[in-house]
Parts: sequence; C-alpha cells; structure tokens
Amino acid sequence: MNIEKLLEKKVDENKQGQVLQLSGSKKNGRKMYIESYGCQMNFSDSEIVASILADEGFTTTKEITEADLVFVNTCSIREKAELTVRKRLEFYNSIKRDKNPGMLVGVLGCMAERLKEQFLEEEKLVDIVVGPDSYRDLPNLIAKVEDGRKAVNVFLSLEETYADISPVRLGGNGVTAFVSITRGCDNMCTFCVVPYTRGRERSRDPDSILKECQDLFNNGYREITLLGQNVDSYLWFGGGAKKDFKKASSTEKENSLNFANLLDKVAQVNPKLRIRFSTSNPQDMGVEVIDTMSKHNNICDHIHLPVQSGSSRILKLMNRGYDRKKYFKLIDDIKQRIPDCAISMDMIIGFCSETEEDHKETLSLMDYVSYDFGYMYKYSVRPNTPASRMEDDVPKELKQKRLAEIIKNQLTHSLVHMKKKLGKTFEVLIEGDSKKSDQHFYGRTTHNSAVIFEKGNHKLGDYVMVKIDDCTSATLKGKVI
Ligand code: SAH
Ligand code: F3S
Repeated sequence: MNIEKLLEKKVDENKQGQVLQLSGSKKNGRKMYIESYGCQMNFSDSEIVASILADEGFTTTKEITEADLVFVNTCSIREKAELTVRKRLEFYNSIKRDKNPGMLVGVLGCMAERLKEQFLEEEKLVDIVVGPDSYRDLPNLIAKVEDGRKAVNVFLSLEETYADISPVRLGGNGVTAFVSITRGCDNMCTFCVVPYTRGRERSRDPDSILKECQDLFNNGYREITLLGQNVDSYLWFGGGAKKDFKKASSTEKENSLNFANLLDKVAQVNPKLRIRFSTSNPQDMGVEVIDTMSKHNNICDHIHLPVQSGSSRILKLMNRGYDRKKYFKLIDDIKQRIPDCAISMDMIIGFCSETEEDHKETLSLMDYVSYDFGYMYKYSVRPNTPASRMEDDVPKELKQKRLAEIIKNQLTHSLVHMKKKLGKTFEVLIEGDSKKSDQHFYGRTTHNSAVIFEKGNHKLGDYVMVKIDDCTSATLKGKVI
C-alpha cells in the first residue's frame, strides 16, 4: 500500500461509526443502538443522547437485530460523509424488512438538521428526525411516532448546552473522554455547513465543565479533550449566549471567563489529569492561551490549528478571518513560547478558483510550519453555503493530484518529527491495546504521537516513561524504562 493510501485509510478509520454500550438503572426492557459518524462532537453528543434515554429506561445493544430503536448520529461536513450515512440507512432498511420489522429508526445530528422533513419523505425508513439542539425532546418524539404522528424536531437553540446532563461514557476506554465547552459556530467560513446545522455559538457554564472533569478524574479518567468548533471564542459571563456580551453589566464583564481562564481552571482539577482541546481557530487564538498552556505541565503540548489554505487570496474567499502573515505570526508565537509544541492542521484542497500559484503557497506554508500531522480534504460543495454560489471550478482530477502532493509533503514532515523523537524518552498515558498485538499497549505522548510498547505489568490509565527506538510517519515504538 502506498503512503497516500495509508493516510486516506487512517482518515477513513477516524470517521467510522462506533457502537456505544450501556446498562440503564431503571430498565424499560427496550433497547437502543447508536452509531456515530463525523467529528468528536458527534461522539460526545451520542453520549448525551444515551444519557437522556437511559433516564427513560432504555439500555443499549451492539446487536442491531434486537434493537427497538436505531439511531445514527450524522455528519454533513462533506458529501462523502452524507453518502456513508445514506448507505447505512439502506442497510437498516434491509434489517427492518428481513429481521426486525418493529424497530424505529432515528436520524440525529447535522444531516437531520440540514434535510429536516425531507428525510421522512425521501427515506421512507426514517421515523424520527432530530437536530443537535433537540435531544431533550427525544422521549416525546418516540412517543409521538408510536402514536403514528410525525416526529421531527430541528429547532436550533441560542442557549442549549446540555450542561446539566452527565454523558453516559460508553464504548470508550475509561481513560480518555471528551467534554464539550461550546456548541455551534458563528464564524461563517464560506465552505462550511456547521453554522447552519449546529446553529449559533454558545458557551457552557464553567461550573458544570469543572464538575464533569472532576467526576471523570474521580472515575479513573486521566485525559480530557475540551471540545468546541472554535474553543478560543469560549466566553462565559453568567449569561451563556456570546452575542449578549455587549449588554452584560460591568460586574458580569468583570467576572467573565474566556478560554484561557477556563483552561487554567480545568488544568487545576488535578495535575494527573491531562488536558487537550480542539479546535483552535487561528482567527481567535491568542498568546494568553499559549501562555496558559506553558504554565501547566498537564496541558498537552499540541495545538490543532486548521489552516485550510496557504494562500491569502483563498483564505479571504473562505472568510477565515486571517491571512498568511497573521497565521505565521501565530505560529511564531507558539514556537517561541512552547518550542517543542506539536502543531497539526486541516487543509482544504481545490477550493473555488484555486490556481497552481495558490497551491504552491499552500505547500510553502506547510514547509514554513512543518506540521506534525494533518487532515487533508478535497473541497466538497455544501448546498446553501456561501461558497455554493461560487464556481467549484477546480477539476476533480486536479484536486486529486494536488491532494496527493499535499499528502506527500505532509508525510515527509511527519516522518521528520517522528525521527527526531528516536532515542528520546516520553511520558505516555496508556489508553488501550495495540490494534495489531494484545501483547502491546497503545498510548500517546503530550504531542499526540501514538506510541506502541510491550505491556509488562502496566495497566490502562497508567503513565509510563517510554524510550523510543523505532518509528513510522504515524507511530512510535519503544520500551518502558
Ligand atoms: N471548526 C473547525 C473545523 C470544523 S469542520 C475550524 O475552525 O476549522 C472540520 C474540517 O472539515 C475543517 O477544518 C475543514 O478542513 C473540513 N471541511 C469543512 N467543510 C468542508 C468542505 N465543504 N469541503 C471539504 N472539507 C471541509
Ligand atoms: Fe466551520 Fe469555520 Fe466554524 S470551518 S465550524 S464555520 S470555524
């Protein structure tokens, strides 16, 4: 398999559905089955859904044929993500027809929000359609469909953060967990469907975030990832929705909390609790956050900083709110304050009107930054976004060719970073078995590099010091010392 194929495979695996397991306390004898696709936020939302339905007495199952309720938490970010979900719906249809005629099928998340009623009309199999802000309504919607009524709720809220719901941690490793801190996005990047499917940006009450982190630590978790489309715009002043900040009283403003303040508090939950966060937006990330990172040893030295393009002209068309120069300044600030900080990115290849010159600028930006790793995507038009009114004029083959060049460039940089780690020793948090061998553990360094090593007497959730003796562009191998 060539390197491009390997990297694509890695991206695909990342997007695969995951089945969650749960055993409810007041069981009602009914079972649900949930699959999640797309971003980390969707996996986190499925845990909220599981919690809401566990309160109603539902348990979960890994066997779709015995499920009373089948939910698919969907992603709309690219056309391919939606096609994957449609294939799953066809599969559920065949199960319903041949093996489990009584089951109800619900579509959750971004595709539900984007396609709304169209889902009930077009996909005859779908019984329930629920957008990302309406999960509390699920018990009511299930009752509705059982009464033979239409069950759709795609209302987008200005306040909902599910702050009071403790997610049911299912299907995980008991060591790492996601904690959402904001929902929605106000950035309006022209290519992106998220502002339309997840609504306006709002921040979650910090007390509920800190309590969730403390509970996770008490339950044996050792790493949390704070989640938001744009974590740097987290802002709490007692009132939730960010847009009202202008109207906040002077006391509220004085007591307000930004992302750096929140990060500082979360880092103090326990020094043995590792903190990560995603996603940082170059438009909003500032030195205060970088300084907070360097102040605390347990905040991991890794920043995921999607760039999307290396050309200022394209960045402007994308409405990203920064240009090449501003991005470089941010990279310099990071490297100056945390010299060894790992940096990763998302890149979109072949956006409307992208020329060979723009493409070269992307390659040269990658050479300047030298990312540790990256997720690279061909541009995919999303209906009703501002970019859908621009011409998607880079031919498919050219997008593919440029993507291959970008991937090749990234793999070269990734390998350089991994090779630099040979002979060095890193603290690794043990997260699970290696996929290839049950004699080996899998864990990650502060830089988010995957490490494989022999198990010895160690166990999940332990921190171990591993000396690196071998690597590929994606994985380190070593021995516990
Ligand atoms: N909030 C994040 C991104 C969320 S979407 C940010 O600040 O960038 C995850 C990634 O999907 C994006 O970073 C982008 O690289 C990719 N993406 C989004 N819309 C896309 C589209 N229409 N075509 C191809 N890739 C897209
Ligand atoms: Fe999308 Fe841009 Fe927000 S990529 S999620 S609109 S920051």
